[in-house]
Amino acid sequence: MLSSSHLCDLPEPLRQYLLVYRLESIAIGRSSATVYRCTHLSQPSLFLKIVKVEDENSSVLLSTERKKLEWLSRRIIVPRVVEFAQAAEVQYLLISALLGQDAGQVSSPAEAQAKPPEIVSSVKGLHGVSPDECPFDEGIETRLARVEVRLRDGKVNTSNFSSKWRGKSLTDLFSHLVKCKPKVEDVVVAHGDCCLPNIILNPQGSSGLIDLGRVGRADRYQALAILSGSLAAEYNPFYGAARTQRMFALYGIDTPDQAKIDYFQLLEEFF
Ligand SMILES: Nc1ncnc2c1ncn2[C@@H]1O[C@H](COP(=O)(O)OP(=O)(O)O)[C@@H](O)[C@H]1O
Ligand SMILES: [Mg+2]
Repeated sequence: MLSSSHLCDLPEPLRQYLLVYRLESIAIGRSSATVYRCTHLSQPSLFLKIVKVEDENSSVLLSTERKKLEWLSRRIIVPRVVEFAQAAEVQYLLISALLGQDAGQVSSPAEAQAKPPEIVSSVKGLHGVSPDECPFDEGIETRLARVEVRLRDGKVNTSNFSSKWRGKSLTDLFSHLVKCKPKVEDVVVAHGDCCLPNIILNPQGSSGLIDLGRVGRADRYQALAILSGSLAAEYNPFYGAARTQRMFALYGIDTPDQAKIDYFQLLEEFF
């Protein structure tokens, strides 16, 4: 039962596959992807992601996410790629649903109190993969080069930046990123968008990661800065700053490197 008329435009193998599924639009992510949960009476659920190719940078393309999922599937728990298709300027990625709930979905302080060990263990699982084996680079130079293109194309708008940076011009903020690069990158395989909704917690164990288009070799703080920002964000009121402290302790960092946290949180604002 395809529920929306534009889904009738799905490329053929996908349309056939999904004819017997019910599609429900998901409005959690902040990326340019349109995401649907696809449920079936007797088959496991799937997720369908749709992205317009346009001039998007390659890390948000679903062809990139597909490659990364295939590489990661031999190393950690991630969704299985079921189908990929491109038609005209649109890419489609159909993946299995991970069992559980994304870590952003908590409805009480007690629930938020219980989740950090599992969150940290999922993130550490990825950071335990050898970066030497990882073919994807997401280091500072790569990201700064991408930011330059976004700035040139007018795709960055400070009105979406955290109030922490209010009153500063884009040029000043970008120059700061160029001048104040951390001297040493402590490279791991980092999520790239390590926010709570991209971590799927399974109460039966075996939690996993999703939304992996930006995974690659990067400083571990690239991930930890986004995760701590996500824990402290006002739209996640049941977590809060205290959980951020605990997250670092569980990760094994007694004294978090605040300069790196600030640096990577600012860098992230440009995406
Ligand atoms: N494979 C999956 N398994 C479980 N939940 C998923 C899966 N894919 C997407 N979701 C749910 O849909 C939300 C948005 O999907 P995501 O891939 O993160 O897209 P976006 O790029 O919009 O953030 C996720 O935060 C999660 O709640
Ligand atoms: Mg997401």
